[in-house]
Amino acid sequence: MEDSIKKQIGKLKREKDVAILAHYYIDGEVQALADFVGDSYFLAKKATEITEKNILFCGVSFMGESAKILNPDKHVVMADGAADCPMAHMADIDRIAEIRQEYTDVAVVCYVNSTAEIKAHSDVCVTSSNALRVIQALPNRDIFFIPDENLGRYIASQIPEKNFILNDGFCHVHTSIYKEELLHAKDLHPEALVLAHPECRENVLEISDFIGSASEILSFAELSEAKEFIICTEMGIFYELQLKNPNKKFYSVGHRQFCPNMKKISLEKVLHALETLEPMVEIDEQLRMKAAKPLSRMLELAK
Ligand code: 13P
Ligand code: SF4
Repeated sequence: MEDSIKKQIGKLKREKDVAILAHYYIDGEVQALADFVGDSYFLAKKATEITEKNILFCGVSFMGESAKILNPDKHVVMADGAADCPMAHMADIDRIAEIRQEYTDVAVVCYVNSTAEIKAHSDVCVTSSNALRVIQALPNRDIFFIPDENLGRYIASQIPEKNFILNDGFCHVHTSIYKEELLHAKDLHPEALVLAHPECRENVLEISDFIGSASEILSFAELSEAKEFIICTEMGIFYELQLKNPNKKFYSVGHRQFCPNMKKISLEKVLHALETLEPMVEIDEQLRMKAAKPLSRMLELAK
């Protein structure tokens, strides 16, 4: 049954001229048949290079939106239109206006995990893998970082010469990795290095050996001479970690490293989206043009 779904997906993909893009946090069986798998930065950049007429996005809605914002002429289809990232909504347009009043030379820096509307009110976007580079390249000293507080605090600690104003958004998956549980995992696996995503809590990052985006965690694990790792990010990443490093061991911290939205995407839904080319991402053109500016600026500054 599963094999026949995979065959149908392959056939429809070719017939309908579709490129499948997938994030590392979705199920391994879907990652296995995607044309490109990556972290948020890789996927945003890759979407601008696709030659196929249609993009099928296996990820959450801000990812499909970014692909459409940057490529208005492409049809961007979501594997599941209801897969949304709660953090993407955790910034307030009125608060941005207040901060702009208070700090006249502020740069509003928006993590790509945000809605098109929030992006449209921002000066530049960042992802977890390019935030440092992009913010260092900005002339502004005052930085209003939205929506994720933990990523903002971590980047602020790397650039002490800038003044960061933080926002209280968070990722419920990464913030449910607790220091106490991590200490317990470290006791169980004393040889293991701890690799953490910067969306994790400050006290988790403080006791981690490496902090980076999904792709950076993967490269670190591959290049490291260590043989065991405790992974502080979403479980989907274990598929690629295991695939690339069959002789290394990877441990999770608890049972909550699971993004229910990323996990909405199944082979059946991919097949359905290919059959119907629905649901399609549609964005009002005025909004798209406004949101394209900070995204394009990110791609330029992150080069
Ligand atoms: P990265 O892909 O930048 O590592 O972001 C993690 C994430 O939470 C995506 O939803
Ligand atoms: Fe959003 Fe966190 Fe899920 Fe990523 S892992 S989509 S940031 S809720």
